[in-house]
Amino acid sequence: MKRTVNTIKAFKGKEKISVLTAYDYSTALIVDDSDIDMILVGDSLAMTMMGLDSTLPVSMEVMLHHTKCVTRAVQNALVVADMPFMSYHVSIEQAITNAGRFLQEANADAVKIEGGAVRVETIKKLTENDIPVLGHIGLTPQSVKAMGFKVQGRKSEDALKLLKDAVAIQDAGAFALVLECVPAGLAKDISEKLSIPTIGIGAGVHCDGQVLVYHDMLGMYPKLTPKFIKKYDEIGEKMKNAFKDYSQEVKTGKFPEDKHSF
Ligand code: KIV
Repeated sequence: MKRTVNTIKAFKGKEKISVLTAYDYSTALIVDDSDIDMILVGDSLAMTMMGLDSTLPVSMEVMLHHTKCVTRAVQNALVVADMPFMSYHVSIEQAITNAGRFLQEANADAVKIEGGAVRVETIKKLTENDIPVLGHIGLTPQSVKAMGFKVQGRKSEDALKLLKDAVAIQDAGAFALVLECVPAGLAKDISEKLSIPTIGIGAGVHCDGQVLVYHDMLGMYPKLTPKFIKKYDEIGEKMKNAFKDYSQEVKTGKFPEDKHSF
């Protein structure tokens, strides 16, 4: 059954929400066939698909390309496209134009933007123009040069600011909110305060849903394994073994056999 923003909102308090990234057609087919509620075409593809060190260089064209690949595959999950760095910062007009492209050209269901109270006007305008928005606060990777990669909201004044940011984003019209790398107790307070669902990544058990980057949970991105990752498999290792077997069989003439030939 196709998930809409209303289905996702209605899960709050009833059923936890499962979210995974996908960036290409064949992976999106598998994710969509796995009962995942929401697929995020995250700008984390900068690292996992492009080998970059941060999400900052990712362009609108790259995000549109990957979003199109994903939406071609998906029938059930809600597809959220990540708006890249500087695509919604310069002006509200530019944010609306760029967000609109994800819905109009790439068939996304919603967009995600990073940042707290500073994004309120943008979120208001996007949602007034029928573009559903997923907010994202806590560790926001597009702010790496300003805040680094570290847990946010440990000090009480920072926690209070995040709580205020969360309420402001909800009031601006976001349908859900990603909480990245915040202490579990703070994520609990925010989740209890909000009427929209919170989607945690490194934010503990009390969020209304969880999101993971699929490369991380499948052991396919060896560069970094943060504490909050649970590895559900070692697919990278399995792929390497299969590729090695294939190489050996080509070299020894074991592949192809007669049955693989015309
Ligand atoms: O880009 C991404 O994949 C994300 C998630 C980690 C939330 O923003």
